[in-house]
Amino acid sequence: MAHVIIMPRMNTPASSHPQGLAVIILAAGEGKRMKSRLPKVLQPLAGRPLLAHVIETARSLSPRRILVVYGHGGEQVRCAFPPDGLGWVLQAQRLGTGHAVQQAVPQVPDDEIVLVLYGDVPLLAAATLERLIRAVGSGGLAVLTMVPADPNGYGRIVRDAAGSVVRNVEQKDAAPQELAIRECNTGVLAAPARRLKEWLAQLRNDNAQGEYYLTDVIGLAAAHGAVVTAVEIADPIDAQGVNDKIQLAAVEAVWRRRAAERLMADGVTVADPARIDVRGRVTHGTDVFIDVNVVLEGTVTLGDRVRIGPGCLIRDCVIGDDTEIFPFCVLDGARIGASAHIGPFARLRPTATLADGVHIGNFVEVKNSSLGEASKANHLSYVGDAEIGARVNIGAGTIIANYDGANKHRTVIRDDAHTGSNSVLVAPITVGEGATIAAGSTVTAEVPAGKLTIARARQTTIDGWSRPVKRTKT
Ligand code: UD1
Ligand code: MG
Repeated sequence: MAHVIIMPRMNTPASSHPQGLAVIILAAGEGKRMKSRLPKVLQPLAGRPLLAHVIETARSLSPRRILVVYGHGGEQVRCAFPPDGLGWVLQAQRLGTGHAVQQAVPQVPDDEIVLVLYGDVPLLAAATLERLIRAVGSGGLAVLTMVPADPNGYGRIVRDAAGSVVRNVEQKDAAPQELAIRECNTGVLAAPARRLKEWLAQLRNDNAQGEYYLTDVIGLAAAHGAVVTAVEIADPIDAQGVNDKIQLAAVEAVWRRRAAERLMADGVTVADPARIDVRGRVTHGTDVFIDVNVVLEGTVTLGDRVRIGPGCLIRDCVIGDDTEIFPFCVLDGARIGASAHIGPFARLRPTATLADGVHIGNFVEVKNSSLGEASKANHLSYVGDAEIGARVNIGAGTIIANYDGANKHRTVIRDDAHTGSNSVLVAPITVGEGATIAAGSTVTAEVPAGKLTIARARQTTIDGWSRPVKRTKT
């Protein structure tokens, strides 16, 4: 199958920065408006923390170092990420964005370029940031700007008569004519470390919020004669910060739409791009069809001509060519071969391994089991801890009882065996090749190959029996 890898975002290939890049991510915010015990930067977007998205984008730029400034919920935030390749800088007191960057810059060598990102601004594309870094040129300051429909709340970019950027003014400090400026600051900027350190050292907090504003470095750079370049982003949504659940949902909706558009651009037929959630990496072949309300999580690989019915959750699965997933299945950590039929209403749990042509039908649960080629479990069954051969038929209502109340045991069912309806196989047990288990049997000992095994009370009929008759009241 011709695979196309759909990444969570479209990143340009990482470029190398001759000067070396240091990314500082501000993540000390408390996020009061989230009204949650979970720190803001750990709130999930597409199933992963906001900060994870920002770190991933930062990594794609191949920086020499990534420093995360953390504060509120500190340990919880740190513990959410593997320690490798990240530097953590504690901002014990939240004295402003400038103060936050001041905490991190001592760890950056003077000859590197610093890029400042925000842990709660997850949609920025690597290509945009590459453009910003290039705009630093030889020693200037590059600021990422936007022209949003509603500039309320953002810092405004003040230019002189010649059109050069002279400073940023925060909304709360702005004069009425400055509030009319449409060009806004995204907060993201890049500058050579040596110069940024000089400018940061001059920050003051005599402003409306009593904070050390990072954005004041714009005015300081301009005053020192440095070139300040405004790099405007095409779509202001890319710079959307997430402060509450409404903004979180807005960003999620953008993510969802873009992921669906990437799938469609790569040839997948998506029944309704507004009703598919891609929360991970999807690799797929050609002529795949995905119906409405499907959620794809983790790493999902779909072969050619795979069809996924409505309402399915598919997490970390590999699905072979020509396999059809019927509606309302929950598939988690399964490997499914080619030309299989799954569902409707099937549940596959981690390490379920299904060979080509397997059929798993309605209300069947498969856990930690393998089914060989063309084996079928079509109705109302539990298949747990079992190794099942080829062409086996698991009859309706078969239960593989793998748990004795303390330990789990394995069951082996060899090729061409049939289990009757409503049979219970008490593990550990082996069912021989071509064996048949009669309907309603509870088998607890080995079932021999090629024979019929019955383990149920024999049917008897009582002659001359008469039904009790209701006593008449006296
Ligand atoms: C900031 C910019 C503003 C810009 C806007 C874009 C400043 C002074 N202003 O304003 O020009 O238009 O972003 O959204 O920078 N943080 C810390 N430590 C602190 C303070 C903040 O880590 O001491 C983090 C926050 O968690 C947040 C980010 O920095 O992720 C931005 O801080 P916030 O207070 O939201 O700044 P804004 O007022 O939005
Ligand atoms: Mg903000």
